[in-house]
Amino acid sequence: MNAIFTRTSVRQFEEREVEPEKIEQLLKAGFAAPSALNECPWEFYVVTNKGTLATLSKTSQYARPVANAPVAIVICYNTSTLKSLDFVDINCAIAAENIWLEMEELELGGVFMAVKPFEARVEFVTKVLNLPENIIPFGIMPLGYPKNKRQQKERFNAERVHYIN
Ligand SMILES: Cc1cc2nc3c(=O)[nH]c(=O)nc-3n(C[C@H](O)[C@H](O)[C@H](O)COP(=O)(O)O)c2cc1C
Repeated sequence: MNAIFTRTSVRQFEEREVEPEKIEQLLKAGFAAPSALNECPWEFYVVTNKGTLATLSKTSQYARPVANAPVAIVICYNTSTLKSLDFVDINCAIAAENIWLEMEELELGGVFMAVKPFEARVEFVTKVLNLPENIIPFGIMPLGYPKNKRQQKERFNAERVHYIN
């Protein structure tokens, strides 16, 4: 899959809306992710409200690009449908990567910003989005049409590959 090798973090965006069909396609990519016990614990909040994006950009000092994005997908999980919390962060991370790779296919770009495991960020996003008690925010993905696109750097490191024959 080429997107794996072309994806980079995008933090600056053109002033252009993202088509609703493309947002839906990103959400489909998120829901297509594998999850432990196939529990599919995700809930996705799609934020386009400028004021809310500006507030979400204050989630942490590293979340500023959210303010420049036309859209942010907030990846959350639903605790009331889960048998176990053991794998929930892994499940959300896989969905995030699916969405990130699908952006590449759609000529969009974005970045992932951690909410969990920081309690203060979880509380902040919960408040901003007025989330019910059973919905926990995991991460924020601001996205849009990239202002400029970098090439991915080679990270393959043969010294860290260990063959046991
Ligand atoms: C778990 C995780 C948390 C991240 N948090 C932030 C963040 O808060 N702010 C940000 O600008 N980038 C964040 N990033 C993006 C990383 O900085 C970026 O993926 C890394 O520098 C590699 O660059 P690349 O995505 O262009 O390959 C995060 C990435 C991951 C996987």
